Amino acid sequence: MLIEKKDVQQVANAMMNMLHEEEIDIVNNFHDAVLAKDIDKIDELFKVLQYDIEDHFTTEEDMMEESGFYAAQIHKAEHDTMRKKVKDIQEHWDLNKDPSAVQEFLEGEFKKWIVLHVARWDSETAMHLGDTM
Ligand SMILES: [Fe+2]
Ligand SMILES: [Fe+2]
Repeated sequence: MLIEKKDVQQVANAMMNMLHEEEIDIVNNFHDAVLAKDIDKIDELFKVLQYDIEDHFTTEEDMMEESGFYAAQIHKAEHDTMRKKVKDIQEHWDLNKDPSAVQEFLEGEFKKWIVLHVARWDSETAMHLGDTM
C-alpha cells in the first residue's frame, strides 16, 4: 500500500475528504499494478488515475472560485505543477513502459506532495469553504 488513509489529514469540508479518500484508493490500486509490473493494468489504471486527479483538482478549483477564496490562484498553481508532472511521467511511460520510473515517482514525489498539499492548501481552503459545499 502506497498511502494509508491516516497519512492524509482530514480537512473541514466533507466533499474534499471524499475526493481524497477516492484518490488514495485509486493510487493504491495503481501502485499495486506498478509493483506487479503488469503493463496492461498500468496502462488502464494510469488513465483512471489521471481522470481522478483532474476531477479532484477541478472540483476544488470550482469550489474556490465560487466561494472567492483569497489564495485560489496559488492553490491552483500547485495543482498545475502536479498536473504537469503526472503528464510528463505518463508520456515517459507511454514511450518506455518502465514501471520502475513510475514507482519512483509515486513513492517519492507524489506521496510527499499529496500529504503536504492537503496539510497546507486543502486544509486552509476547506476552512474557508466550511462544510457548506
Ligand atoms: Fe485535494
Ligand atoms: Fe488541492
